[in-house]
Amino acid sequence: MDSFTLIIFGITGNLAQIKLIPALYDMEEKDLLPSDMTIVGIARKEMSDEELKHYVHTVLHLENIHHKHEIKEEVFKRLCKKFTYLSGQIQDQNLYEKLSNILKHGNRIFYLATYPELYHQIFENLQKNNLNKQNKGWIRLMIEKPIGCNLPSAKKLNKLLLKYFTEDQIFRLDHYLGKETLQNILTFRFANDIFEPLINKDYIDHIQIAAAEDFGIGKRGGYYDQVGALKDVGQNHQLQMLAFAAMDAPSEFSNEAVTKERIKILKNLIPMPDKVVYGQYEGYRKEENVSLQSNTDTFYALKTYINNERFKDVPIYIRAGKKLKQTVTEISIVFKNHVNRLFKSADSGDEPNVLIYRIQPNEGIVLKILTKVPGYDAKLQPEYMQYCYRPNPYTHKIPDPYERLLIDTIRGDQTFFNDAEEVEAQWAFIDPLIAVRGKPAIYEPGSWGPKEADELIEKDGRIWLEPSMDFCRI
Ligand code: BG6
Repeated sequence: MDSFTLIIFGITGNLAQIKLIPALYDMEEKDLLPSDMTIVGIARKEMSDEELKHYVHTVLHLENIHHKHEIKEEVFKRLCKKFTYLSGQIQDQNLYEKLSNILKHGNRIFYLATYPELYHQIFENLQKNNLNKQNKGWIRLMIEKPIGCNLPSAKKLNKLLLKYFTEDQIFRLDHYLGKETLQNILTFRFANDIFEPLINKDYIDHIQIAAAEDFGIGKRGGYYDQVGALKDVGQNHQLQMLAFAAMDAPSEFSNEAVTKERIKILKNLIPMPDKVVYGQYEGYRKEENVSLQSNTDTFYALKTYINNERFKDVPIYIRAGKKLKQTVTEISIVFKNHVNRLFKSADSGDEPNVLIYRIQPNEGIVLKILTKVPGYDAKLQPEYMQYCYRPNPYTHKIPDPYERLLIDTIRGDQTFFNDAEEVEAQWAFIDPLIAVRGKPAIYEPGSWGPKEADELIEKDGRIWLEPSMDFCRI
């Protein structure tokens, strides 16, 4: 692997603490980082190298649902040797001069773990100091979703990016694309030939996508209150889940071919502003940095269709929210029941088969089937045929998405990153739904959201599936 410098703008921020530093630790533990690479952390606060080490140590020991395993001192020490800290204001020329003086490698990744409002200034200053010139190696830029806050602002940002970088240098990151459980959907569908013939309107009744969290917004009120659930996870993570589950087979496994198929799905989604429900959990307005009159959505449910032959008239129901009953993310493909199904009048005999891509927890791909209850009668019961990932929650065999996406950036592979057109297609679908966002329906923490969300699906004679914890149990 080429050696390089990783420059993180915003090393003391939430993203660096929760995702980046733990991912770098895991990479160090697995020997995935070149020994002579450097990580330059940038933030406003003054800190000595000793204080930085202490900070990294503290961050690694914070409670973190995605990073629960043991922190080994010798790995921590090896990682710390790679770190350098630079304090300074984004607009301060000195900062870039200091940066220029310490950069050892021509190969560089600039990770902007900071507010999008600061991007422009950072790009300008990198340019002024020739830091974005690829004359001594490769330069890559990693930026996080959300890219813009609607279609016009996303277009503006995409245009701005192209002023300083070329498209093959820009790694727009939606960490869901780095999830092993999402990537495996492609393998499941396109490496096995037996399932794909069933993934179409002839066999599928409907599709459900759920991203539920049993916790609230924590300390992120300042950000979240400006954004809301639909923009926070709907515009990106959930649309990508749908794209993976519904896209046609790419002609080859390459960035161009995979991205092209994802975009085809995203561009064909039909926004239905009269089929969206917004909710807010009771007590949200009392959260830190949230307006007392806030109408921000902490939950949404929507219905859509994909405008193509394959999924013609197959409804898709998507919901996500905070402070719901359970933390679970999954895609359920609900199959049609054959009218002449034998055993349909037996107990449970009319239950549909459901293919579940469980993104987390109890990660796996499972097929709900009907089986015979052992005994002398024709009694049926639903069971799961299951492929599961982990026998033990503390083994971290599944790479964290940030780890995966950092590796992809180092090797210059953009397959699991969004390009400009893709992000714009996502906003083109979301904007008309945001335009009708009014007062949210209040729901009780610990529930599955407001009753209006149930009504949305029940009007069609269907119900939300209660995510099961009966498979891939640890
Ligand atoms: C982030 C959102 O992008 O994704 C958070 O800003 C959300 O609000 C998170 O909790 C969910 O990611 P994961 O990997 O925990 O499912």
